[in-house]
Order: sequence, then structure tokens, then C-alpha cells
Amino acid sequence: MNWTYIEDLGKHVGKEVELRGWVHHRRSSGKLHFLVLRDGTGISQAVIFKGDVSPEVFELADKLSLESSVIVKGTVREDQRSPGGFEIGVKDLILVHQAEPYPIQPKEHGVDFLLTHRHLWLRSPKQTALMRIRDEAIKACRDFLDRRGFIMLDAPIFTPAACEGTSTLFQTDYFGMPAYLTQSGQLYMEAGAFALGRVYCFGPCFRAEKSKTRRHLTEFWMLEPEAAWYHLSDMMDLAEDLVCYLVERVLEKKKRELIILERDISKLEQVRKPFPRITYDEALKILEGKGIKIEWGNDLGGDEETVMSLNYDRPVMIHHYPSQIKAFYMARDEQRPELALGVDMLAPEGHGEIVGGGEREWRYEELTRRIKENNLPQEAFEWYLDLRRFGAAPHSGFGLGLERTLAWICGIHHIRETIPFPRMLERIYP
Ligand code: 4AD
Ligand code: MG
Repeated sequence: MNWTYIEDLGKHVGKEVELRGWVHHRRSSGKLHFLVLRDGTGISQAVIFKGDVSPEVFELADKLSLESSVIVKGTVREDQRSPGGFEIGVKDLILVHQAEPYPIQPKEHGVDFLLTHRHLWLRSPKQTALMRIRDEAIKACRDFLDRRGFIMLDAPIFTPAACEGTSTLFQTDYFGMPAYLTQSGQLYMEAGAFALGRVYCFGPCFRAEKSKTRRHLTEFWMLEPEAAWYHLSDMMDLAEDLVCYLVERVLEKKKRELIILERDISKLEQVRKPFPRITYDEALKILEGKGIKIEWGNDLGGDEETVMSLNYDRPVMIHHYPSQIKAFYMARDEQRPELALGVDMLAPEGHGEIVGGGEREWRYEELTRRIKENNLPQEAFEWYLDLRRFGAAPHSGFGLGLERTLAWICGIHHIRETIPFPRMLERIYP
């Protein structure tokens, strides 16, 4: 028998196939049973007519519980009313495993319940749509940078020091020595950029974020390109092109999934170059015009980001932040040293920051001074300082948070649904 996936049914109209999947839904009317099956690639209806199957099979079909695993054999028919546009006229049905009463019912469940059952929740149509879009976005990130000549270079997960501040480090024991889970691969990409010119890493990052917001995970994925000789504006161009490409690619390849997620596609179609570029000072004025007063030198919080990002129909880039609120490695504006050559990209529709990056401090004296000012242990950064001792050059990079980007593209309020098994304050199960 010809085992076929639901997504390929269109190639087998009129032919006999075998489907292997799970019972998603079931209803009966006298001489007919309708099974809606899912197999990971789609959902399709299997119709069991009493006259077409043995009495045992007909009886079995009436007893299948939700999420039971089955093998169905039958003929593929075109049917516009069926989900996916095809259905199977069943000739045989084999029960592989009768599922126990399934905890997730087609009704509203609290999010805590769903998260505790994440291993099962992943099977539902919205969640599988999200995971398919995630997969596409990861491929698109890589394709984009590969085509631009960037080399993928993996950063380590165990690190000896902080990249993004000591307050969010996860410490582990490394054979009796303290080690930390990486917050960002950036410092290693800077070494890579001087070796290979243009590099990127794409992996999990860890932050002991005590904040319980819709934008924070303790484990998330970041795409981090870094390029020698690039200045802030070159990196802004790259980030803008990357984000446009991601949106285009998801629109092109994953429209069906966006529809399942009830995403307003017209909003994504507006995402085109150029993205507005405004300075931090201008952002404060805009916020003030909206009745939000921020003292110069303070960071934009989640609420301010939301307000700013609602102001535009496409992502906005805010640059030249006060250096006091940016990381130790950021280069400063030569004319106004109180400003860092850093940029954040905020996604529209209230989603907030998806990209953070900028130009790196590449002068030895200046960087050692910053390491001291920030009370960072210089021994742990000697290798990093070597990059300023041996052929230092201007360079820039950024980090794009995959889950935040997906939450925006998919129109999902909380980023926890954009990663298969979210890790958050107070949640590490399952
Ligand atoms: O702005 P961040 O902290 O920048 C860096 O880590 C730089 N070292 C990156 C670089 O230049 N190579 O983080 C970058 C992005 C944020 O804009 C956000 O999208 C995401 O990473 N991010 C998080 N996503 C989910 N949960 C968290 N706790 C996140 N923290 C940062
Ligand atoms: Mg940031």
C-alpha cells in the first residue's frame, strides 16, 4: 500500500493510498462515519461508508477516541468541502493505539493548563502553524545571510564572562569553576569577523530575566551577524533588508499558516523599505507629544516601546541612545560621546524591540576603561581585548530575537507560543 502524507494527497486523486495519523475529530450519521485525521502535514477527512468496509471496521470507527493513532487505507477524492480539498473513501482502518481521554478539548483552556500540557498542545492547528512558520523563518535567516556572503560560525554556550550585563547570568559549575550560559554570541562573532570578514551565529541564548512579561523568555534564539568594516548605517541597512526578506518569505511560503493563525496579512504586506530611522532624542519628543515624559538618559521600557511601535505601519529603528544605558562594548559618537552608536528595531503593532545592535568599540584604551567602569573582570576579557591588540578595525553587528520576530509576524500576543518548549520565570516543565 502506498503510504502518503496529507500534504501530498493532491498527487494521488483517484488512487488508493494509506494515511498514518491521529484522530483529530470524529462524527457519525447512520451509515457514515467521518474521521478528521491529522498527520503533521495537514488535516483531511476520511469517510467510512458502511457498505464499503467490514462490519468490524465500521464498528471500530465509532469507538475511536480523540488523538488515537490509526492507519487508514482508501481512495483519494477531490472534495472542496473537506479540509485541505481532498478526502479519503475508506476501505480499511487499523487502530494502532486507542488514546486515553485527551486532556485538551476543543474549548477554552487556561494558558497555565496549556503550558503544562505543551507536549500535547503542540499538536493543535495553531501551534503546528506557528512551528512551521518558525522553521521557515530560520531557513530564511540563513538563506539571507548566506547569499550576502556571511559565514555561519557557531558560538559557544558555556562562557567565562557576561556579554549583556551580570544581572541576568545563569551560572553553572564547570569542573569546580563558575561558568555562565551564553547571553549572546556577539563577542565570539567579533573574533570571527576579523577571521572571516562577515559571520553570523544562530543559537539559543540564556538570560535569567526576572521579568514576567510577554516579551521575555529565559531561553530564546538569536541570529547575530557581525561584519568587519561595517558602520552603524551599514548594519541598519542589513537589519532592514533582513526583516523585509523574512516577512516576504513567510508571506510567500506560509500563507496557509498565517490564515490558520488569523493574521491580518495586509499589515505584513505594508512592511517595505525604508523603515523610519529616528534618534533617541527624537523618540523622546514623539513620546512627549503623546503625554509620556522620559528623563533624558533613561531607557525606553516595554510600555514606551509599545507606544512607539504603534506609531508606524512598519518597523522603526531608534539609534544613538545614551551610552549610559547601553552595553560596555558599544562605540560612541565622536561628536557627542554621551551617545552610543547603537540601534534598536521596534516591530509595529505594539510588539516592541526585535533587534538590538550597533557599532563596537574597537580601540584598546577605551575598551579597557569601559570594562573597569562596568566592574567586569578584565582577565575574562583578555582574549576579547586581543582583538583590539592585533589588527583592530571598525566593525558592527546586531542580534535579532527569533521569538519576538515571530510573535510579531504571526500576530501572537505572548512570545511563549513561538518556541516549542518555552522556558520562563517559574516554568521549566515539560
Ligand atoms: O538587545 P540585546 O540584548 O542585544 C544583544 O544581546 C547583542 N549582544 C546582540 C548583538 O549585537 N549581536 O538582544 C538582542 C535581541 C533583542 O532585540 C530581542 O529581540 C532578543 O534579542 N531578546 C530576547 N528575546 C526573548 N527573551 C529575552 N529575554 C530576550 N532578550 C533579548
Ligand atoms: Mg536590546
